[in-house]
Amino acid sequence: MQVALKIWRYDPSTGNRALKEYAVDAPEEATLLDCLDVIKDKADGSLAYRKSCRMMICGSCGMRMDGATVLACKTRMYEIAQAEHIPTISAMGNLPIVKDLVVDMGPAWDKFKAMKPYLQPGYERPEDGKEHRIAQERMDVIHKEALCINCGLCVSECNSMESGPEFLGPWALVKGMRFVGDPRDGATVERLEQYSGEHGIWECTRCYFCNERCPKAIDPRDAIAKLGAEAIKEGVDRDMGAKHAKWFVRSAETTGWLRETELVLQTQGVVSTIRQMRFAMSLIAHNKAGLKFPPDIAADVGEARALHKLTKEQDRQGYLGHVQGERALAKLVHGYQPGRDPYGPGSFPKPYLPGEEAPPAPAGGEMGIGSLAQAGLTPGREPTRKPEGGA
Ligand code: SF4
Ligand code: SF4
Ligand code: FES
Repeated sequence: MQVALKIWRYDPSTGNRALKEYAVDAPEEATLLDCLDVIKDKADGSLAYRKSCRMMICGSCGMRMDGATVLACKTRMYEIAQAEHIPTISAMGNLPIVKDLVVDMGPAWDKFKAMKPYLQPGYERPEDGKEHRIAQERMDVIHKEALCINCGLCVSECNSMESGPEFLGPWALVKGMRFVGDPRDGATVERLEQYSGEHGIWECTRCYFCNERCPKAIDPRDAIAKLGAEAIKEGVDRDMGAKHAKWFVRSAETTGWLRETELVLQTQGVVSTIRQMRFAMSLIAHNKAGLKFPPDIAADVGEARALHKLTKEQDRQGYLGHVQGERALAKLVHGYQPGRDPYGPGSFPKPYLPGEEAPPAPAGGEMGIGSLAQAGLTPGREPTRKPEGGA
């Protein structure tokens, strides 16, 4: 079959970027990685990309196709070629580009290492000298997290990391849950304290893009939710994010509604609330504060209370509050779909060549879908910098 690709090239020696088009003859079973290999062998040996296993296990070949991260060795090209679509291939987001499709994974590995990704044994050795045995059900809790192949696709798509590169991010937090959930580990509370600090668990915006793009269906966002629940269970709840979550539960239990008026006080405390009194007075003056005492109670509040009672009776605290093996949300679908214009409304921003007029920014300022402006990313240590005049 004939496969055409547009590839964003970057030459670190000159700083030049260019979108180049290639056409190759490849077998029908070819993957994106196979097509890149053909280009490198027959058209341009200077094309740079990473690969190793070719079987979706080493995590080396992450890149973007039409703005969404993929493992190149997992991406079949047959349907795309049949549809005569020419996908645009670019480097992953949120990480500095080294050359062409190769990014510097160093910043992500630093966060990974900061999680202390190894067991800190917290149990006595069995007297018989044999291995410490635990129930399969207990290990099932971290089954998904243990399958992470460290590819970094989730990091590339993380909205929080784009706006705040210090955020630990989905990959590192998946690794954190893998050890917090391991009954053999003896540093659970210390880990939760560390992961709940600044730029930790509660900095996730719950956009679910990591769940959507993870090639191993690990659902990093779910791992982060489990970490948050474990932190609250262990009393590690000083962070505003934890207090915020707890107030949601308390609101639902008492009224069936979110008691928004008290949310600032409950989340940020008295001092911060007093500091915001001027703003609060302005809301009251415009009848926008929603002050009501006693607060409204939903007609069906009994259902919320019954659910709360049930989870208490079943002692569904921490990770037990999450349904294992199921996705919290149905899969969102982005990227290539037959017949769909990948640059059409609601889709990814169109990459553009240097010198071309930049597309107008969508309402709301940023490009909207997290780090999809990666095609316009300037290589360097700054992960979210965009070219001058770029989108
Ligand atoms: S849900 Fe969104 S913000 Fe949170 S870790 Fe995943 S990609 Fe990042
Ligand atoms: S969680 Fe998924 S996307 Fe993220 S590094 Fe692990 S395997 Fe890759
Ligand atoms: S080459 Fe190993 S995951 Fe693609």
